[in-house]
Amino acid sequence: MKYHNCCFKREWGKFTAKSLKEENITEVQELITNHFSCEEPPRKALGKPAEVMKVFDHARSKQLVVNGTSLGVFENTTGLLIAVALNCVEHRPVNGEAQMEKIGTDPSSLWWEPLRRVMKKLDGANMFTEIGASCIFFGHILSVHPAYARLGIATFLTKCMLQHAEALGCDFFVQHGTSAFTRAIGEKLGCSELRSIDLRQYVDDVTGEKPFAAAKPPHHISSLCYYKILNLEL
Ligand SMILES: CC(C)(COP(=O)(O)OP(=O)(O)OC[C@H]1O[C@@H](n2cnc3c(N)ncnc32)[C@H](O)[C@@H]1OP(=O)(O)O)[C@@H](O)C(=O)NCCC(=O)NCCS
Repeated sequence: MKYHNCCFKREWGKFTAKSLKEENITEVQELITNHFSCEEPPRKALGKPAEVMKVFDHARSKQLVVNGTSLGVFENTTGLLIAVALNCVEHRPVNGEAQMEKIGTDPSSLWWEPLRRVMKKLDGANMFTEIGASCIFFGHILSVHPAYARLGIATFLTKCMLQHAEALGCDFFVQHGTSAFTRAIGEKLGCSELRSIDLRQYVDDVTGEKPFAAAKPPHHISSLCYYKILNLEL
């Protein structure tokens, strides 16, 4: 589902969080391919070539901006995009499994298969039933430009996602906690953990291998985290 009329805006000190539009796609792709593609902890552990991850993320970023629920943080003085949260909204499926993301099977996405399987394992057969959700705001990618790290931008953006989710009528915000830092934010803001996997021990059902054996603590746990969107005080 596309949310063309979404218009989120919230200011915080020198920064403003806003709904991302199609005109932002190029700068989103730059931020993601330069600072997320090879930096997210499970990807680092997987050790695939940077170029294949970048090609994949280039297309995926566009897809997640176009659906209309993604947010960016801009620096007020320079107008620069310094952080993004790429999201989607999914309603409880009437029949069958929820499909949180439609990723193509073209060659650029083949490297992603081990990651897709571990995330599917975290999602379980039907997270809607498990957590009692009817409409989920799902956070796929969270990335902050390293020059703006540790200023509280990701925490601010997470609060914005929760508010945006509420405004869109979602009853849950769900995200994969793939970095110890995003899990730290979740703990601060009161998320619950549905399931978690120690990536170092995880065995891929299809290959029999441990694709993330190189995961380095504290970023060795991936989890499915959720927030119930009720009476939030942000
Ligand atoms: C993870 C990421 C989004 C955090 O962004 P950020 O704006 O620096 O995060 P915040 O400033 O809001 O920090 C939130 C908390 O994370 C933890 N944290 C963040 N960076 C940290 C660091 N370098 N060392 C230790 N703890 C850190 C802290 O607990 C921090 O809270 P505190 O400052 O009150 O102690 C950013 O590092 C990033 O883009 N990483 C690469 C991509 C990625 O892994 N994305 C997340 C998975 S989708």
